[in-house]
Amino acid sequence: MNSRRKFMAMSAAATAAILMPVTNAAAKKSRRYPSNVVHTRKDPGVWNKKAGSHLPQVEVKNGKAIIRTLHPMTEKHYIVRHTLVDEYGNIIGAKTFSNTDEKAVSRFKVPANSKGKKYFATSYCNKHDFWVAPVTL
Ligand SMILES: [Fe+2]
Repeated sequence: MNSRRKFMAMSAAATAAILMPVTNAAAKKSRRYPSNVVHTRKDPGVWNKKAGSHLPQVEVKNGKAIIRTLHPMTEKHYIVRHTLVDEYGNIIGAKTFSNTDEKAVSRFKVPANSKGKKYFATSYCNKHDFWVAPVTL
């Protein structure tokens, strides 16, 4: 390798080393909350193996948003609540479950002119905390 190539390689490595902490710091700053406050598909935090059974899933059918959390409902471990919230924080609907409910499924009337707009479905497990999934209706 000639000296110019060595210099370029070393410069690139040094630049990457300098920029990496800045990039990580910027990524942390861009989070609205620290990890483990709100769990998402991208940031499940301590519950990284629980996303499949805790992230709310949304289907729109006949003017209603149907939220499902594929989670067992048992006496000691169950989904406590669902909400559907618009991008401004307005609550479109909320449903509280009991540990005797068979499934964590809720239905909310979709607001007029909501097609293509961003919403958030939330699901709260009594053992695995608060999960949020963005959804475009
Ligand atoms: Fe759970």
